[in-house]
Amino acid sequence: KTRILTGITTSGTPHLGNYVGAIRPALASAGATDVENFYFLADLHSLIKAQDPAKTQRSTLEIAATWLACGLDPDKAWFYRQSDIPEITELTWLLTCVAGKGILNRAHAYKAAVDKNRAEGEDDDAGITAGLFMYPVLMAADIVLFNAHKVPVGRDQIQHIEMARDFGQRFNHVYGKDHFVLPEAVIDEQVATLPGLDGRKMSKSYDNTIPLFAPRGELKKLIAGIVTDSRAPGEPKDTEGSALFQLYQAFASKEETAAFAQAFADGIGWGDAKQRLFERIDAEIAPLREKYEALMAKPAEIEAILRDGAARLRALHATPALVRLREAVGLRDLS
Ligand code: TYM
Repeated sequence: KTRILTGITTSGTPHLGNYVGAIRPALASAGATDVENFYFLADLHSLIKAQDPAKTQRSTLEIAATWLACGLDPDKAWFYRQSDIPEITELTWLLTCVAGKGILNRAHAYKAAVDKNRAEGEDDDAGITAGLFMYPVLMAADIVLFNAHKVPVGRDQIQHIEMARDFGQRFNHVYGKDHFVLPEAVIDEQVATLPGLDGRKMSKSYDNTIPLFAPRGELKKLIAGIVTDSRAPGEPKDTEGSALFQLYQAFASKEETAAFAQAFADGIGWGDAKQRLFERIDAEIAPLREKYEALMAKPAEIEAILRDGAARLRALHATPALVRLREAVGLRDLS
């Protein structure tokens, strides 16, 4: 069976970028007989940025409810919280000891933090934690522990998947066997990077997100705030580089997208274009939003689902995998 695995960091409220970049493509394969799906909440990763315990817990609940509302069936897929699987943390150390430091130096997130320090005249590593630096190793452990073949992600995560391949391969090489499958990123080409309200990549760190389950009124208001140029109604508009157009495309069929492009060429006013975008997104999201709200009213049920998923996954996969890996590197058998 092909194993498909993906995770979302529990550092905020899920947004449209998470939905089109990861949740929707990852759930598209659910239920097929020839695949096994793994969906998880990356709460250990969240500690790198979010060091507010209440927020981490709130976000974990929201992201769990989001997966379930979007159609994840915990009886047909593995659904768990990263920190409930201590084997992931243990494997992180085994991988750390084969991972090249030079490769980690090149990680985009780390490099961006260094560049920012330089621009501000600070020491290169000022304020940067070892957690940020090690982020890709923890992520590699998430993936290779379960020998995932495919990892549906947004474009920003491709480098991390390549690093997971690199670390997995190095481990295989050092310990002389195919201990790990080397994973591949799966990118939905049509929506490689969803833009946010200001036209940059939609991201919690840019504060330009549209929450996936914003109430209707708020969704409409946020969409009204998407940046556009100042062309008047009647003037032809460019689809190229238009955040509004890209957002529409991520939620529409080919035919609808072509019709929207035609409307741009015909000089649709920005107000009308925003109304059409709002209607298209809301049509897809409204039924999910209802389920989400119902789930958020029952946090104990969500918690039980997560614990059950992790307990079964540990027993069946994670614990036996670590027995094999510990033996492979020459550590004591704990079983
Ligand atoms: P995170 O939490 O930043 O984002 C979750 C997923 O959403 C995608 N995404 C986007 N896709 C398109 N357009 C956007 N604007 C956009 N913003 C976010 C991300 O690419 C991602 O697929 N490191 C990961 C979490 C993680 C993980 C893993 C993923 C931890 N371990 C193992 C896969 C496999 C992250 O922080 O994603």
